[in-house]
Amino acid sequence: MKNKPIGVFDSGVGGLTVFDALARACPSESLVYFGDTGRSPYGVRSKRVIVEYSRQIAGFLQTQGCKFLVVACNSASSLALEEVRASAAVDVIGVIEPGAAAAVRATKSGHVGVIGTEATIRSESYTKAIHAIQPDIRISAVACPLFVALAEEGFSGKPATQLVAEEYLAPLIEAGVDTLVLGCTHYPLLKSDIASVMGPSVELIDSATEVARVVRDSLVTRNHHSESKAVAEHVFYVSDTPERFARVGKRFLGYQVAPVHLVDMEVLHGAVESTEPRR
Ligand code: DGL
Repeated sequence: MKNKPIGVFDSGVGGLTVFDALARACPSESLVYFGDTGRSPYGVRSKRVIVEYSRQIAGFLQTQGCKFLVVACNSASSLALEEVRASAAVDVIGVIEPGAAAAVRATKSGHVGVIGTEATIRSESYTKAIHAIQPDIRISAVACPLFVALAEEGFSGKPATQLVAEEYLAPLIEAGVDTLVLGCTHYPLLKSDIASVMGPSVELIDSATEVARVVRDSLVTRNHHSESKAVAEHVFYVSDTPERFARVGKRFLGYQVAPVHLVDMEVLHGAVESTEPRR
């Protein structure tokens, strides 16, 4: 068990921000990453579809021998975490709760901003997770769908990104939040653009680094952490266009993403049935 890999999945390339944070926080853990590039984006989809896709991917990662699953995608964490947990035979963690906990720790004024995809914002997942910790925190939330394309195109620091950020973030500046949750896999790539619009008094919360810390701690607590002395091995799977994943992935990570394997949709469809649920 201990030396098996951790499975990480996302709708596409964005979850590499979580992959990177995990690889840094848990250097002796091997990681299996799945990006659903054939069916992204998830941020505009319904719960029904996101649950179906997420369960298939969780099934696939378990067939790869993963000991623990990380739902890197904020949209999938928002809408499908319970369903993935119910169908998985291993522990599953999403990005919402760690990000919410970090926001509660950070806010001084008690007014937190949240940005994410339409699916994440509509689900109110961060609001619910923050209120589960501290019910009197005020939340202002805004969907910022264009940020995904800007991040993938490498548009950080460009005037177009500045304009889009000013437009999206104006209501949050107006509302006076002192903490802003970057509730989407892609937004850490635009951190400096978002920070320059929000100003120095607003603390930005990156769910990726928070979830990596929580994964490391929970593996140690469960005594499931790797004790291998060998160099950790990482492997990437996608449901379409491995070349694009590798190209954009390099932009996200700053290093080459390899090896990238293509998975047949039929394999994914069959993966739900082939895993034994825990309960
Ligand atoms: N990975 C998604 C998320 O974090 C963003 C991209 C998409 O919409 O699929 O919500």
